[in-house]
Amino acid sequence: MTAEDASSNISDLQSRALTELETLQDARRLEDWRVVYLGRKGKLTQTLRTLGSLPPEQRREAGQAANRAKTTLEEAYDNHLKTLEEASFATSSTKGRLDVTLPGWPVLRGGLHPTTQIVREICNAFASMGFQVVEGPEVESDEYNFEKLNIPKDHPARDMWNTLWVDYTGIQDEHSVLLRTHTSPMQARIMEKMDSKPVRVIVPGKCYRYEATDATHEWHFFQVEGLAVDKGITFADLKGTLYEFARLVFGQNRKVRFRCDYFPFVEPGAEMSIDCFLCDGQGCRVCKKTGWIEVLGAGMVHPKVLEGVGYDPSVYTGFAFGMGMERMAMLKHGIEDIRLFYSNDLRFLKQF
Ligand code: DAH
Repeated sequence: MTAEDASSNISDLQSRALTELETLQDARRLEDWRVVYLGRKGKLTQTLRTLGSLPPEQRREAGQAANRAKTTLEEAYDNHLKTLEEASFATSSTKGRLDVTLPGWPVLRGGLHPTTQIVREICNAFASMGFQVVEGPEVESDEYNFEKLNIPKDHPARDMWNTLWVDYTGIQDEHSVLLRTHTSPMQARIMEKMDSKPVRVIVPGKCYRYEATDATHEWHFFQVEGLAVDKGITFADLKGTLYEFARLVFGQNRKVRFRCDYFPFVEPGAEMSIDCFLCDGQGCRVCKKTGWIEVLGAGMVHPKVLEGVGYDPSVYTGFAFGMGMERMAMLKHGIEDIRLFYSNDLRFLKQF
């Protein structure tokens, strides 16, 4: 065989392959065609093998011709495949098998947890009155959780907070480590940091108590603590600020009621209730027929607490308050069981 024979074999093969390709109407037959001409044992490969018998100088020329044919056939194959695919898409969509006007899969959207929502809403209400949002540690020392809040060891008030001890050795001292039972320890931490400057802070955060759970108790929950300390702050400031908060969060027509309560770190101490926003004070299920709903504890910062962090109580006064976030959300949305906040049931969470 000469180089000329080889070249004409190759061009014959190419034109035969191309003519045949034009007649192919479906993908399966196209694949057969590919195997026959371009496959590893296909005709083109076989032709290439025969070139070995040519004299070296002719072998190169014939080899180049064979490679050109290979590229041409591969391109023709790609183009034909694309044409067939387009045609099949067009027929299947006109036959109604694929309706491109059908809506797509909905994209699932996440949302904020109802506790996160109420925490943000309440922090925003106080931020609009000039309070700064601060966070603190969930693992606390006995000293900050109790001692600096005027709750000494053996004081019966410790019974108000069932504590989860982190390093329980049987001995409780100020170095004992616990999971904070409330956000109040941040009062002392902040005042120590602020170094006698006026303080207006709001502290959202998670708290823990060693408690059996039921519809109104969880062993972990969120609180928001508030603290304002300055020269000349009075109980009237406490009432005005908390009244404004109640109106911002529970509606402009809210009334508030203050009654005496006891917390070791405030004097005087109070609880604040709002008139029931569901029945406007008439008495209903939410307010348990009383017309009032208790929303928070508050009071004037105890002089001992101020002294303990180096503030002179004859110069500085202040008020503090604390409230439970799940309780706020339960009131707002009419949720009857606090455990729903932590059961991670999407049927519940999706409603908010
Ligand atoms: N820390 C209290 C609790 O967890 C709530 C509280 C009451 C906070 C009165 C205060 C306050 O700052 O003044 O039960």
